[in-house]
Amino acid sequence: MLDIQKIRADFPILNEEVNGKPLVYFDNAATSQTPQVVIDAIVEYYSKYNANIHRGVHTLSQVATDAYEQARLKVQKHFNAKKSYEVILTAGTTHSINIVATGFTALLKEGDEIIVSALEHHSNIVPWQMLCERVGAVLKVIPFNEAGELQMDVYDTLLSDKTKLVFTNHISNALGTINPIKEIIDKAHAVGAAVLIDGAQACPHIKPDVQELDVDFYVASAHKLCGPTGVGLLYGKEEWLNKLPPYQGGGEMIETVTFEKTTYAGLPHKFEAGTPNICGGIAFGVALDYMNGIGFDKIGAYEQELLDYGTEQLSQIEGLRIYGTSKNKASVISFNIGDIHPFDIGSILDKLGVAVRTGHHCAQPIMNTYGIPGTVRASFSFYNTKEEIDVLVAAVKKAQMMLS
Ligand code: ALA
Repeated sequence: MLDIQKIRADFPILNEEVNGKPLVYFDNAATSQTPQVVIDAIVEYYSKYNANIHRGVHTLSQVATDAYEQARLKVQKHFNAKKSYEVILTAGTTHSINIVATGFTALLKEGDEIIVSALEHHSNIVPWQMLCERVGAVLKVIPFNEAGELQMDVYDTLLSDKTKLVFTNHISNALGTINPIKEIIDKAHAVGAAVLIDGAQACPHIKPDVQELDVDFYVASAHKLCGPTGVGLLYGKEEWLNKLPPYQGGGEMIETVTFEKTTYAGLPHKFEAGTPNICGGIAFGVALDYMNGIGFDKIGAYEQELLDYGTEQLSQIEGLRIYGTSKNKASVISFNIGDIHPFDIGSILDKLGVAVRTGHHCAQPIMNTYGIPGTVRASFSFYNTKEEIDVLVAAVKKAQMMLS
């Protein structure tokens, strides 16, 4: 059992009021809140050892370099990467996907096929479309059913020896569906295709094991894991990272530079041009320590309780429809009431202190499939409570009354 009140005390923002009401923060799928221990790590870095890394002989630079490389080791351990240099620290999920999608320009040819799921965030669609435009590859889409589950029988028919890449999210940000990624990966490998999994929405709830999954690329962002914004992970199998060309040129990613020829550094530096988000990387490591200290098994079980309770309570509201009713689902509830615009509901909820996201959630193809402009999305974290869900439900009923 989690001691929720003790956990809540770790998050100063949870004591804030918004519009004169106690904050009920249900926009965790957009970004998680930050525990004091992570805030302290950020303050400590800038107060005590702010310096550029991998460059200076001076003490501060060495302390900062050690702390940053320790953070990489923590990320390696958390995701169970075989080698620390298979962990590229990036600016976040979008950056990580773009590194891979741009790199594949050198590896694909006209007529090659790429498979994407229809449940993707724009960040896991647009970079691949741009890749297809560059090389003349063909994008194929795995559709989803009414519940928001991928149609795996259609996936089987899309796979062929032309398939070079498959990419999907681990959990849908808009619907909460947990996708059968092991099956997706194994079937892609059977035809010789590489797989990238967007773990941005899964990592707050699940501890992925990249070796067990046998995934080629796995990407995530620290800010959904109680860490800061502007830092994230690109895990890639060594063989794939060696095949991909660098994404950006600059300092740090080189071995030698002359005007005649530059040679590139080895992994991970080949993909880490320029001064990285040093403080962010260190704080990412601290955030992982914090969440592992609580335990992902306990986090997952408690969030499932919140999901079940929230689903049951919201479902009792007349005219409310939940989008995304997959059997395997994370703690995300997307809904609409009749034809009331989600933005109007969200605005009233905000006045009542309840933070939710409204709109298409950067997943327009999902909204188009359901024929809706967007949804109201409440996403729960391990520091939320059933009492807060009661506040949400009362606020939704009030919004419904005001807008009907
Ligand atoms: N991708 C984030 C979300 O779903 C921002 O809200």
